[in-house]
Amino acid sequence: MIGVMDAPCQLEALSQAPLPKMEQTGFVAINTIHCQPHYQERFECLFCSRVRAIDEMPGFLAMHVLKPGSEGEPYLVVSYWESEERFQAWVGSEAFHAGHARAFADLKAAKDAGQEPPMTSTLRTYSVLAR
Ligand code: HEM
Repeated sequence: MIGVMDAPCQLEALSQAPLPKMEQTGFVAINTIHCQPHYQERFECLFCSRVRAIDEMPGFLAMHVLKPGSEGEPYLVVSYWESEERFQAWVGSEAFHAGHARAFADLKAAKDAGQEPPMTSTLRTYSVLAR
């Protein structure tokens, strides 16, 4: 596991993040992630120091990582895109793998050790119906 616990938490910076260019949003991908309790701190630290490989992808507008208000509920990783084509191009890109290298290494380490995955995810995608 690559250490990030010592990195300063940057969640405060969220309040300074630019607002999504909502008028350009044509497609929204929401990844719902259930974490095992022992993995939550690690999960939050990965996003505190996220790779930001996505930030330069054409058509990417913004993302939010939403922490549940109730114990046991999933985190939501919400990303806003100009179009589905732009989203699919990111999923097939090096940037997707770079942005997930630590997460996927953690999953592999658990699998190799014969353990349950520390997190599981379900992707849902949406078009914009109304503003
Ligand atoms: C198509 C499916 C997925 C979407 C839309 C998605 C969305 C995102 C986005 C937008 C980021 C930020 C990337 C960056 O900063 O460059 C990210 C990182 C991350 N995702 Fe995903 N993700 C997907 C699949 C998964 C899966 C399968 C898992 C685990 C089960 C996962 C867990 C994580 C974690 C832990 C991070 C933080 C990684 C780090 O910075 O070290 N994601 N995801």
